[in-house]
Amino acid sequence: MNTEELRATARALVAKSRGILAADESTSTIKKRFDSIKLESTEENRRVYREMLFTAPGAREYISGVIMYDETLRQKTKDGLPFPAYLAQHGMVPGIKVDMGAKPLPGFPGETITEGLDGLRERLAEYYKLGARFAKWRAVIDIGSGIPSPYAIDANAEALARYASLCQEAGIVPIVEPEVLMDGAHTLERCEDVTNVVLDRVFEHLFAARILLEGIVLKPNMVVAGKNCSQKASPEQVAEATVRTLKRQVPSAVPGIAFLSGGQSPTEATLHLSLMNAAGPLPWALTFSFGRALQENALSAWGGKSTGYSGGQQALFVRAKLNGLAAAGAYKGSMESSAA
Ligand code: 13P
Repeated sequence: MNTEELRATARALVAKSRGILAADESTSTIKKRFDSIKLESTEENRRVYREMLFTAPGAREYISGVIMYDETLRQKTKDGLPFPAYLAQHGMVPGIKVDMGAKPLPGFPGETITEGLDGLRERLAEYYKLGARFAKWRAVIDIGSGIPSPYAIDANAEALARYASLCQEAGIVPIVEPEVLMDGAHTLERCEDVTNVVLDRVFEHLFAARILLEGIVLKPNMVVAGKNCSQKASPEQVAEATVRTLKRQVPSAVPGIAFLSGGQSPTEATLHLSLMNAAGPLPWALTFSFGRALQENALSAWGGKSTGYSGGQQALFVRAKLNGLAAAGAYKGSMESSAA
């Protein structure tokens, strides 16, 4: 294991005022996104969309790395340059989603286990050759009546650790993503309790699997109330609860934490991130690894039309810049109108 390479990649991913663009939607997920703009999900439309995002003028200043899907990693710009080479040449680390999705966990109704460990060593070796230097695996924890069960949390934490060790063996930085979903009517306090337990179990398994903590990036949910919760939490409460949880659970050897957006609106996610960074010195970098919160405005401005191409790029640039400011604790809601 080349520990220096792993440390350097992890540090680059969470470098000051930069974060990750999650553009790793599977073919079925990107189809849903394209349905919302009434665009057919063909391989070429998916390629054009990803090229629009990756080449957006100015955005790369704020984007340290890009997570791709298997198909995207093998696609090229219109000029024939493979996407991983394009990204690396422009100072963005190429990344790859390697899990095969969350599948029903037998015996545990309503819970899932993320699959994809079989054959992962061979896939990682190929992805490294194709230029990937970091990977992502998403474990999904749902909150509901009687769930999550300790067994489901543990099974997912163990799978994350096994994935992380295979990545590090291959010279690839694992993004360790245990996502506690926002779906449901649970309170912020319940999300905090569950997130604490999940992170506790994840770090226990990472330690047992002898993971180099300096060579990972954690990608957690923020601590928020469920989407259907009647008690709304303020942005300050979200920031405070999230930082409190992370301080309790994440060793300072981890270089950085890059949040998923998880269904928060783009502006909410940015504000929460900024408040956390403004709150004071933290033992790790806190930044973004947003999918929807970075892409939503770009997707609708583009609309699948060549006339929307530069508008889509501008929309991505704006969100990347505002999130770059948030990663330094310097974002204000009032910047939204002047940036647009
Ligand atoms: P969202 O920011 O849309 O939650 O996506 C991030 C991601 O990569 C989920 O796995």
